[in-house]
Amino acid sequence: MTKLNINGTDIDVAADGDMPLLWAVRDIAGMTGTKYGCGVGLCGACTVHVDGVAKRSCQMTVKEAMGTSVTTIEGLDQNGEHRVQQAWRDLNVPQCGFCQSGQIMQAASLLAENPKPTDDEILEAMSGNVCRCGCYQRIVAAVRLASTGS
Ligand code: FES
Ligand code: FES
Repeated sequence: MTKLNINGTDIDVAADGDMPLLWAVRDIAGMTGTKYGCGVGLCGACTVHVDGVAKRSCQMTVKEAMGTSVTTIEGLDQNGEHRVQQAWRDLNVPQCGFCQSGQIMQAASLLAENPKPTDDEILEAMSGNVCRCGCYQRIVAAVRLASTGS
């Protein structure tokens, strides 16, 4: 039986190794905060952390995820108090919300790697995360807030 570590728990995954990680996360682990958008790596809605780094879960197989540590939006912070989540709330970033867990996971990965990014670095890091509601200005402002406190 294939095991995946998702949000710190080993989960038995009775699935073909070629199944996209996204489906294991959503349908087997029941972590439905991670969204299916395009399925081809172009929207970022499915972003999770794999060993702490943002990855598109629609573009990674269960086989490739074995032996790694997968974190979804549900596991980013037990109480939803990660500084990125706090900034998102402070600035009321979401509109419909569909893209937002992917946006937050992407932003959290950026700040883990680069705690004080410039605006250009924020734009670059977030450029693959699409928001059909057009919340881009608030997203950039919230990443800035999470990184600088202002
Ligand atoms: S669903 Fe994975 S990038 Fe769009
Ligand atoms: S908030 Fe609606 S897609 Fe981003």
